Amino acid sequence: MKLRRWIAAGAVAIATVGALNVAPATAGRSYNPADQSLRNLALRHGLAIGTAVDLTALDDPADPRYRQLAASEFSTVTAENAMKWESLEPTRGTYNWGPADELVAFAKQNNQRVRGHVLVWHNQLPAWLTSGVEDGSISTTELRDILRNHITAVVTHFKGRIWQWDVVNEAVSDPWDTPSTLHYKGFWAQHLGPGYIADAFRWARAADPHALLFYNDYNIEAFGSGDPANDKTQFVYDMAKDLLAQGVPIDGVGSQGHLGTQYGNFDTLQVAGALRKFAGLGLATAFTEVDVRSQLTAGVQAGDSNEINPRLQASAANFSVLLQACLAERHCLSFTVWGFTDKHSWVPGWFSDPPEGLATIYDENYQPKRAYQEMKADLIYSGPPYVLPRVPQKPRR
Ligand code: XIL
Repeated sequence: MKLRRWIAAGAVAIATVGALNVAPATAGRSYNPADQSLRNLALRHGLAIGTAVDLTALDDPADPRYRQLAASEFSTVTAENAMKWESLEPTRGTYNWGPADELVAFAKQNNQRVRGHVLVWHNQLPAWLTSGVEDGSISTTELRDILRNHITAVVTHFKGRIWQWDVVNEAVSDPWDTPSTLHYKGFWAQHLGPGYIADAFRWARAADPHALLFYNDYNIEAFGSGDPANDKTQFVYDMAKDLLAQGVPIDGVGSQGHLGTQYGNFDTLQVAGALRKFAGLGLATAFTEVDVRSQLTAGVQAGDSNEINPRLQASAANFSVLLQACLAERHCLSFTVWGFTDKHSWVPGWFSDPPEGLATIYDENYQPKRAYQEMKADLIYSGPPYVLPRVPQKPRR
């Protein structure tokens, strides 16, 4: 009897700890059975559902639906551009915090957590920085100081208000780059060597000991050949393992999840397997920029349902594959879409030859697409024993 009571008490204690463990991802709200929003449905799993936010759309009085949905459907937000270096420090020494601060305030008002994006990336750098390095007026030693100061200034500014920071973004090449053997690519590796990655994590940790620090990249949804010379996921896995072995404070790996229906893509078990391997290193994971684009063929543009429907179906299926894999892996903390409406998506502007689009979960008129419904279904119909609440990640010291 006594033993049984002890076991029962233990079970309650474990259940309580489990419930408490869910708290960080849920930002203080509890599940409400009457609320069918993605953010509420995900609460049962302790999963945060996020979106990238376009500050211009958020502030457009003629477009109120954008703000409403950004608040009601999502429990975490990412600045689509406002925290990038060129936005924060367009002129050397003069920071423009306004739009980023506005997003952080919006998040607070709506009980949302913030993913900070991004501290170190080779794109969207201010011209004063890239041209200074190019013309030799900024030396390598100075460049390293500039990077340290930038990370310190930005992380300190937002200290205590960022849940996850994308510390380093897209540092690894792709098999179609030259040379095709995977390597550290881009501005920072060229000028500082790959050691900048470990430095960046250490500087970020020193400025905010409570934020979770992520490495973020695309095309790492699943493992391939296992050869780091051509398997990007393996390369990133080896990198993370190596950073951990050096005592570098990396807490997670973000998989962007930019997919396209014209590609082969992955199945749920493959993706869950990749998340599990990263978890095996003691790392959290997250899907950080999910969208699934399609080619806008002449038929699609003419409204031919024979061409449109299969694309909408395939897009929905891919959103679902990534979400189910994330649900299945308890260390996958958040699932963020890179814009939630085709009205405001980076895809048509970036993929124009051939034209692509239809990448998000709401159409241009804010009607939920099949992808939205499939995400909702995944959140509703999953549960124990295969889907259990998230395990919180503690920042590594
Ligand atoms: C994109 C934005 O969506 C665009 O508005 C901007 O013009 C370019 O950058 N990977 C990333 C994101 O990490 O920061 C990128 O965002 C999309 C690809």
